[in-house]
Amino acid sequence: MAADVRERIEQLRKELQRHEYLYYVLDSPEISDAEYDRMMRELQELERRHPELITPDSPTQRVGGAPREGFVKVEHSSPMLSLDNAFSEGELRDFDRRVRELLGGARYRYVAELKLDGLSMAVRYENGLMVRAITRGDGLVGEDVTENARTIRSLPLRLRSGEETCEVRGEVIMTLEAFRKLNEEREAQGLPRYANPRNSAAGSIRVLDPSITASRQLDYYAYFLLRNGRPALPSHWESLQRLEKMGFKVNPHRRLCKNFDELWEFISEWEEKRETLPYEIDGVVAKLDSVAQWEQLGSTAKAPRWAIAYKYPARSAVTVLEDIEVQVGRTGVLTPVAHLKPVYVGGVTVSRATLHNEDEIERLGLAIGDKVEVYRSGDVIPKVVRVVERAPDRRPFKMPKKCPVCGGKVVREEGEVASRCINTNCPARLKESIRHFASRGVMDIDGLGEALIHQLVDRGLVKSIADLYRLEKEQLVELERMGDKSAQKIIDNINASRSQPLPRLLNGLGIPFVGERTAQILAETFGSLDAIAKADLETLQSAEEVGPKVAHSIYTFFREPRNRDLVERLRKEGLQFTYETTRAEEGPLTGLTFVLTGTLPNLTRNEAKALIERAGGKVAGSVSRKTSYVVAGSEPGSKLDKARELGVPVIDEAKLLEMAGEERR
Ligand code: IVH
Repeated sequence: MAADVRERIEQLRKELQRHEYLYYVLDSPEISDAEYDRMMRELQELERRHPELITPDSPTQRVGGAPREGFVKVEHSSPMLSLDNAFSEGELRDFDRRVRELLGGARYRYVAELKLDGLSMAVRYENGLMVRAITRGDGLVGEDVTENARTIRSLPLRLRSGEETCEVRGEVIMTLEAFRKLNEEREAQGLPRYANPRNSAAGSIRVLDPSITASRQLDYYAYFLLRNGRPALPSHWESLQRLEKMGFKVNPHRRLCKNFDELWEFISEWEEKRETLPYEIDGVVAKLDSVAQWEQLGSTAKAPRWAIAYKYPARSAVTVLEDIEVQVGRTGVLTPVAHLKPVYVGGVTVSRATLHNEDEIERLGLAIGDKVEVYRSGDVIPKVVRVVERAPDRRPFKMPKKCPVCGGKVVREEGEVASRCINTNCPARLKESIRHFASRGVMDIDGLGEALIHQLVDRGLVKSIADLYRLEKEQLVELERMGDKSAQKIIDNINASRSQPLPRLLNGLGIPFVGERTAQILAETFGSLDAIAKADLETLQSAEEVGPKVAHSIYTFFREPRNRDLVERLRKEGLQFTYETTRAEEGPLTGLTFVLTGTLPNLTRNEAKALIERAGGKVAGSVSRKTSYVVAGSEPGSKLDKARELGVPVIDEAKLLEMAGEERR
């Protein structure tokens, strides 16, 4: 075999590994997804022709191999201990006092880290290669989940620091976004929902089929570095820095604290800020920085004496379940929603909570009138977790046989947990479809909110998504709370949405299982809506990430006369039915990388990005020495400071347009 094949494979792997690191660990990609996919496909093809050249650290090996029979138990190199908890400032002060006493007056510092709510996992590396991943288990013996862990993109298969042999411990988590998407998908499939991101992360790592783990978008944050079962460096703070250099994601929100007050300040800061994080935390972990002091203090059988978990107050409260209302979603799924006596839970007043489905109500043993506990976590919708006290005159809940909105028939398929209204004309379904179509990130029709959608549908002004494009200002002005100006704005926004690119339109159609990413892939693979609508099952499945289930859903969607009719009407309205990958091979900006910050006077961020790519340039997420220009608008962020610090030239929109050879707007 030609040596250049081997070389090309090596080169592709190096490049892909670098881009994976930039994307998944640093969150600052340098290339588009399409470019990444192209390289990945080339590597897959070469490896298919030369299977003898496949190595375990190849980026192609992250897709998840064949399912196994069961998990193998593996002993940990040293026990994976748990942590003692402190639930108040007083308890934390007690801990600090004990530490001081045990250290006999010696100086000490704490490393404060966020306590991510996931599950801990040990990962072993031999000569720089990931060889084994083990769950915590009972702390002494865990389960070998190597094949599943391989699919976690932020977990390096090969260390960036060279051929080291070591063990890393950290937390596997699922972001709130991934959790929301997963549950949405499960609901659409009639499968039970996961209760919280922690459970779904645990469920996703402990499955026998690694391809399931691969589909779950898990993340890994490292917090311990061991060699021969012992801490590798004398300072924990330095270990964390070292882990970053090795290519791991280490939570950036950490602080070296000189005393209790600094630690308490960190904890107080994050109690509020935690709402803004894209994942859940349940507290802060404080560890002594000095490993020598760890050894001095030692551990009990369960937990070390040199660390503690401060837990934020639980965000739950007890209230009365006053009623259960049934809502109808975009796919016709009926969701019971709890109406609660308003109660204050961790900073907000809660009066509604989702109950998911009939089985969930039965599992909780709920009846109307009961006293219940409600729990609110992160930005997840509040939920009822248990019955605290049954009411003597409680009324049991029954799923209605008829749709509460249109009176149509409700069915619950064998093996599904969801009940659905099967009337495709149900106004509730229509309302939900419009809400999705207009939402941010889809067709982005600003101003077309819930209240307006209700009025439009209830008054019969909109009977199909396509009717939106026929609306006139005069019709809107007659609606409640609608002035002349805002009516015109909405009409303008609806009109502007005609030029949204095909992937957004595809997403907006609400085809089950076709979200943002699949829509993008479909548009890139087939180039037009018609090609997608015409494709048979096999052709659909030739697209990346489109399996039998998704293909079937797309195929059925486009064979339903109502949907065909919708497509034809949208075509007449001039929506974007074709798609070209926007990046030009060669253009005035070829070889240049831009970073956008702040609000530009005329272009939206997406427009600016498209413009740069059309002219052959690239757009990156963060400023580095490789950035050619930073394009700054009003209220620029820290990227501008970074640009100045690194001496990267800063330009405005006008200059960008000029460089790209576009006319001034
Ligand atoms: S240190 C011996 N650091 O919390 C020290 N744990 O309640 C053990 N966790 O089992 C863990 N974030 O699953 C540590 N930054 C962090 C953590 C963390 C989350 C979890 C971990 C552990 C549990 C202990």
